[in-house]
Amino acid sequence: MAEDQFADFDIRKSLSMVFATPLVVHDWPDSEPLNNELRGLILGKESEDVKNGIKRSNSGGWQSAGNFLTWKEACVNIFRQRIESVVSKLLQELIRDLGTDRSFKLLIDSWANVNRNGDYNIVHTHPNCMYSGVYYVAPGQPDPTVPHGGLLELLDPREAANFIQVPNTVLDARNFYDNTPGRMLLWPSWVKHMVHPFVGEGERISIAFNVNVVEDSR
Ligand SMILES: [Fe+2]
Repeated sequence: MAEDQFADFDIRKSLSMVFATPLVVHDWPDSEPLNNELRGLILGKESEDVKNGIKRSNSGGWQSAGNFLTWKEACVNIFRQRIESVVSKLLQELIRDLGTDRSFKLLIDSWANVNRNGDYNIVHTHPNCMYSGVYYVAPGQPDPTVPHGGLLELLDPREAANFIQVPNTVLDARNFYDNTPGRMLLWPSWVKHMVHPFVGEGERISIAFNVNVVEDSR
């Protein structure tokens, strides 16, 4: 048996990463004017909301109704286009090898979130849709001494992945995402996630969304 069977063995030729989970993290440029408009609009709606918002995954905090995209302000229309752009580009990437003459209709629900000191969102998924995401409008002034304060964490969908105890590998990852204003994330709706308690001054403002995708019939 050839001795070089070991030396020549390249594991990369035999390895594929199965069950991959697509995640988009896109930082929209020049977002400050848009975010200022969205911030004023959302805080204004919150102050008018006599029913004190909706309870979904939030513990404390305020969530608008899921009709954010029907609000008539121009900044909302730009925001809608940002969602449509990111989702469409992801879909085109996912079908890259399956033909380029396919088109999709997007059905989108969206709602605004305002978290203040102590508010958080429990671990949850977004049922009855395909892709979900969030856009960061304002980070507030989080206490820098509090670890993970106000951060989104996506949980590993491989329930027992951490049974393999090899530190600092793809098998023990925890994934946190900064509330950078202008940042948009998109993931499959079945991915469990949570928002750690915001500790600090001001308002952590985000806009969440759910997308259902319907392929246009040809
Ligand atoms: Fe969520």
